[in-house]
Amino acid sequence: MGGTVVILLSYLLGSISFSIVIARLIAGIDIREHGSGNAGATNTLRMLGKGPGITVLLLDAAKGAIAITIARLLGVPEWAIVGAAVAAVLGHNWPIFFGFKGGKGVATTIGTLLALTPLPALIGVGITIVVIALTRYVSLGSLVFFVLVPFLMYLYHEPGVYIAGAAFVGLLGFIRHTENISRLIKGDERKLGQKKQEEK
Ligand code: G3P
Repeated sequence: MGGTVVILLSYLLGSISFSIVIARLIAGIDIREHGSGNAGATNTLRMLGKGPGITVLLLDAAKGAIAITIARLLGVPEWAIVGAAVAAVLGHNWPIFFGFKGGKGVATTIGTLLALTPLPALIGVGITIVVIALTRYVSLGSLVFFVLVPFLMYLYHEPGVYIAGAAFVGLLGFIRHTENISRLIKGDERKLGQKKQEEK
C-alpha cells in the first residue's frame, strides 16, 4: 500500500471523534454544544465525568498511535509515517464524519508522538501532567506539550522529518487553542474540575 493511501486512511481514522460518539451514546448530546464546545477529552470530562473523559482521552490517543503503527507495519517511507501522524490529527481537528468540526488535537497528538518517538513524547507527557497538576489548566499543559516535544525530539537526535511533523501538529494545536490562549491571558480560562461555565 502506498504512502498516500496510508495518509488518507489515517485522516479517516482520526476523523472518528470519540467524544462526539461517546457523548451521543451515553448522554444523547452533541458535546460540541456544551461546555467549551470542544470535541475532546477535557470537555467530555467536564460535561460527563471522569469515566467518559478518560475513555475519550485513551481512545483519541489510541487512534493516533494506531495510525502510526499501521503505517510502520505497511513499511511506507518515513515521510508517509509522519504524514500519517499529521493526517490523524487533521482528521481529529476537522473530521469528515462530523461536519469538519472536531477537537483541538491534544490526545491524538500525544498518541501519534508516543508511537513515533516514545521517549521524548513520554517525557513531554510527564511534564504536561505536572503543569496541569500545578496550574489546573489543561490547555496550558497541552500548549507546553506542543512546544516541548519537538525540542525534546531534537535533544534525542530524532530524524528531522519527525521533528518537523511534531512542530507542525504543535502549530495546529496552537491554532486550535487561540480562544484558550486569550482566556489564559485574561485569567478566565476554565480550570480542571471547574464545572460551572457558560454553555455554548
Ligand atoms: O483538550 C483540549 C484542552 O487543551 C482544552 O480543552 O475544552 O478546555 O477548551 P477545553
